[in-house]
Amino acid sequence: MAYQTVARLEELPEGRGHAARVGEVDVALFRVGEAVYAMEDRCPHQGAPLAGGTLEGCVVECPLHGWDFDVRTGFKPDDADGFPIPCYAVRIEAGVVLVDVEDEINRPRRGRSAGRGRSTRRGRSTGRGR
Ligand code: FES
Repeated sequence: MAYQTVARLEELPEGRGHAARVGEVDVALFRVGEAVYAMEDRCPHQGAPLAGGTLEGCVVECPLHGWDFDVRTGFKPDDADGFPIPCYAVRIEAGVVLVDVEDEINRPRRGRSAGRGRSTRRGRSTGRGR
């Protein structure tokens, strides 16, 4: 699909999100200073649109039950592990914001195969000796 135009930079308010649709994907855009971050506009808890949440710094709080997510990574701020909300590549060209929903810039880290399973387990087997 490549990059698609989603908004003009001046349309994105600070302190809250902006909803856009790219192909079949609902995207929440967040402006933090001159940077813009894009993530799937669907909370993993019960599906609320995160674009309607409150943004403090780089953390958005879901409007429904208050779960929070770092818009730069898609992870919970205090748990940079597990399965993040998909975040997408963003470009800004001449004040126009473009998103590529096929370029997912984060990946789940917990339980990945990629040959790392053994080293991960090694550090967790410390429960003996009680
Ligand atoms: S739907 Fe987002 S925290 Fe419940």
